[in-house]
Amino acid sequence: MNDALIPVRVADKYPIATDTVALELVAADGGELPPFTAGAHIDVQIGYGISRQYSLANDPAETHRYLLGVLKAPNSRGGSAMLHDLVMPGFQLNISPPRNLFPLREDAPFSLLIGGGIGITPMLTFAYRLQQLGKPFELHLHARSRERAPFLELLTSAPFANKVYLHLDDDPEGGVDYRALLAGNAATEVYLCGPNGFMEAIGSALQGAIVPEQLHREVFDAAEPAAVNQPFDVQLASSGDVLTVPADQTLVEALQLHGVPISRNCPRGFCGGCAVTVLEGEVDHRDNVLPQELRDAGRMLSCVSRAKSGRLLLEL
Ligand code: FES
Repeated sequence: MNDALIPVRVADKYPIATDTVALELVAADGGELPPFTAGAHIDVQIGYGISRQYSLANDPAETHRYLLGVLKAPNSRGGSAMLHDLVMPGFQLNISPPRNLFPLREDAPFSLLIGGGIGITPMLTFAYRLQQLGKPFELHLHARSRERAPFLELLTSAPFANKVYLHLDDDPEGGVDYRALLAGNAATEVYLCGPNGFMEAIGSALQGAIVPEQLHREVFDAAEPAAVNQPFDVQLASSGDVLTVPADQTLVEALQLHGVPISRNCPRGFCGGCAVTVLEGEVDHRDNVLPQELRDAGRMLSCVSRAKSGRLLLEL
């Protein structure tokens, strides 16, 4: 639905690795920020029509700030470059409320948190939460070198510092055998975030060692290429109105044209802002990020996903 934007102020900005800065955001009115759960992200409005998604990195028990890690993307002229070059302490930004497409299974007997480079950010929130719950876990950070390892200072001073393992490409001793590590912890949930190639390599290394449901990836990647589109109908449960979504239109566009207040931030199926709940009908999911438990609960991303059945009944 249409999440009202939150005005925030940049309270601090400091380097945390090569080409990587931390931004600390506080509410512009000095009050508390909406609470968030481990694994959540926010959309940062960077300029007219530009928003970028960033995972939160601080303790989810905190309500006075959001901490982000921002890697300057190579050749960036927009999003991350603006946050690096133009945004300074005191600067005001608008952000979305936190959303969570990467939830933590808090009852797992053991959790293995693996971050590649800036992919460490959601792992930090998991680590804070698991530490608070007294649950066993390990946090592994992979980076090309110590200079490129984000949040190193925070990791070495955090309450869970004794559970942090650093693996550097330029350190011959820096490898890790995750299969061997998992062998002693059968009931392990594995969380993975980082560049696609990194996640694929670790995912393949773990194949057969865990069932797919135990491997959770944070994907900030475009949706699957669309299949051939067919028109379909949706009915709004509250009014009974029926809309037809033509083949050349997305569901979120049809809803907006009908006056339904709904966000369309990315809109490529990875921010979660356009999620709606389906009460009846079969969804053709075309995103890569919505966890199975949210799909099972009827959620769909209306900017990319469509209907398999002729009509969907929406909780709107
Ligand atoms: S608008 Fe971002 S997932 Fe749909």
